[in-house]
Amino acid sequence: MRAFVLAVVCLICYIGLSVAKEASPKVQVYTRTRGEVGKANALICHVSGFHPPEITIDLLKNGVNMTNTHQTDLAFDESWHYYLTKHAHFTPNQGERFACNVTHMGTSRLYDWDGDM
Ligand SMILES: *[C@@H]1O[C@H](CO)[C@@H](O)[C@H](O)[C@H]1NC(C)=O
Ligand SMILES: *[C@@H]1O[C@H](CO)[C@@H](O)[C@H](O)[C@H]1NC(C)=O
Repeated sequence: MRAFVLAVVCLICYIGLSVAKEASPKVQVYTRTRGEVGKANALICHVSGFHPPEITIDLLKNGVNMTNTHQTDLAFDESWHYYLTKHAHFTPNQGERFACNVTHMGTSRLYDWDGDM
């Protein structure tokens, strides 16, 4: 019974995946609370609507990879498009620039956080 259910789920999954077309990611970069100099916050990069599922997300501080980042598991919506979120705890300081570097299907794009500090 369990194996049967698994087989059906896999079949539905397989049909869904093969039907889905290539799609570029939509990216939003924001913080948990309003950005304030010297205040602890979390930088969040939300990436959605893309296909195929292979994707690389890097959070950058002044163009350098941030460490201590956390990424959610890949999930997909009803139209078989994937989405996930990467975040890092950080404290923004004057003159620092933060961005999300998303690489999908061999193309990288930088998305700046337009912190209203
Ligand atoms: C950033 O770190 C990731 C691993 O977290 C690595 O795969 C990637 O190559 C690094 N990018 C740069 C520009 O250093
Ligand atoms: C963005 O990530 C890609 C893939 O890891 C890397 O080649 C590229 O140099 C990165 N861009 C920046 C500005 O770090």
